[in-house]
Amino acid sequence: MLEGKKIVLGITGGIAAYKSAELTRAFVKQRADVSVIMSRNATEFITPLTLQTLSGNPVYTDTFSLTGDWEMEHISLAETAHIFVLAPATANIIGKIASGIADDLLSTTVMATKAPVLICPAMNTNMYTNSLVQANIQKLSNLGYCFVDPTCGELACGTEGQGRLAPLDNILEEVITILTPKDLRGQNVLITAGPTREPFDPVRFISNYSSGKMGYAFAIMAKRRGAAVTLISGPTSVTAPSGVTFVAVSSAVEMRDAVMKHVDESTVIIKVAAVADYRPASMADSKIKKEKGEFTITLEQNPDIIAEIGKIKGDRVLVGFAMETEDLLKNAYNKLMAKNMDLIVANDLSRPGSGFQYDTNSVRVIDRSGDVRKFPLMSKINVADRVLDRVKKLCDERGLPRP
Ligand code: CTP
Repeated sequence: MLEGKKIVLGITGGIAAYKSAELTRAFVKQRADVSVIMSRNATEFITPLTLQTLSGNPVYTDTFSLTGDWEMEHISLAETAHIFVLAPATANIIGKIASGIADDLLSTTVMATKAPVLICPAMNTNMYTNSLVQANIQKLSNLGYCFVDPTCGELACGTEGQGRLAPLDNILEEVITILTPKDLRGQNVLITAGPTREPFDPVRFISNYSSGKMGYAFAIMAKRRGAAVTLISGPTSVTAPSGVTFVAVSSAVEMRDAVMKHVDESTVIIKVAAVADYRPASMADSKIKKEKGEFTITLEQNPDIIAEIGKIKGDRVLVGFAMETEDLLKNAYNKLMAKNMDLIVANDLSRPGSGFQYDTNSVRVIDRSGDVRKFPLMSKINVADRVLDRVKKLCDERGLPRP
């Protein structure tokens, strides 16, 4: 996701500086070119050699000022960076940037860049909540600097509160989001994900193996591309993505009600959820006890949510999924036409690495003309990205969003 991107990672002197080694690895794993600048205090917490080894690039510290070379180097870093990430950022560096002070290599380079700057504060909770620090953060936010807020928890100084460096996954996600072109800005994308649960007593339900991963990948990718995203999800073990409106539901009827509430405002609807077609006709008030012989559950039909949307969608772009074990293309195309979708993503459950639970998927995308595009096995994030390219094209053709 970060191939060809140049990240300058600025590390300042806090105990969380040791986490910058893992952050560097995470950026490099995404194929970014990482250059590290350390403040003098940061070098007391972690050595430049560690960061140099992990980034594969020279590390810049104030000691370079002795050689005289650094002056040109830091200007070139400021000019070529796609993004600056300050992690951890102390109260001191935040205060310096907010006040326009450039008195060391890091603050000078930040001052000289036109690239987006992402600041990840980490400090003692009393320092973080200090009104001066908060005023500096506010000022920088207003000026367009980006932040990943610290989380609450036990701090190295022995106190509890907000001040821990945000999880590295959140920082990585924010970097990717900032660097992704915002070609879906203005679109309201409604996504459903995960399984539904259909209970028949207080402790038992009928469900399916859907993990939610494919739907969550759509939510993440649409958010990265600038859309306002509402994710309506059945129960999953996947963490709700940051930066999207998240609505948790359980049964198909709850999912239907939540979807209908959001249809009006949406321009794109992507129904990835594996909705149970049937639900138990009755729900026992207490746990059903075991008795001799067979036990029968009578099922009744759930609402077909996407078919309902298909009837009222107007020019909204409607994308569905088809899970099939036989006659994939024929069944998928019939579903697309019957439910008035614009695109259907056909998922062949018999292919290895495809379908529920996996992080990868191998799909075909069919449109109303019957055109079939076959995608090779790829990560669910990449599947989402490719399908969103088709969605974007349809939005452009229909002039969505309307002015
Ligand atoms: N879907 C829905 N509501 C339902 C059932 C399915 O909105 N009650 C949506 C799914 O989210 C998916 C599409 O319909 O986008 C196709 O789902 P699928 O289960 O493959 O299709 P069904 O029409 O239920 O057909 P069948 O189970 O008979 O294959």
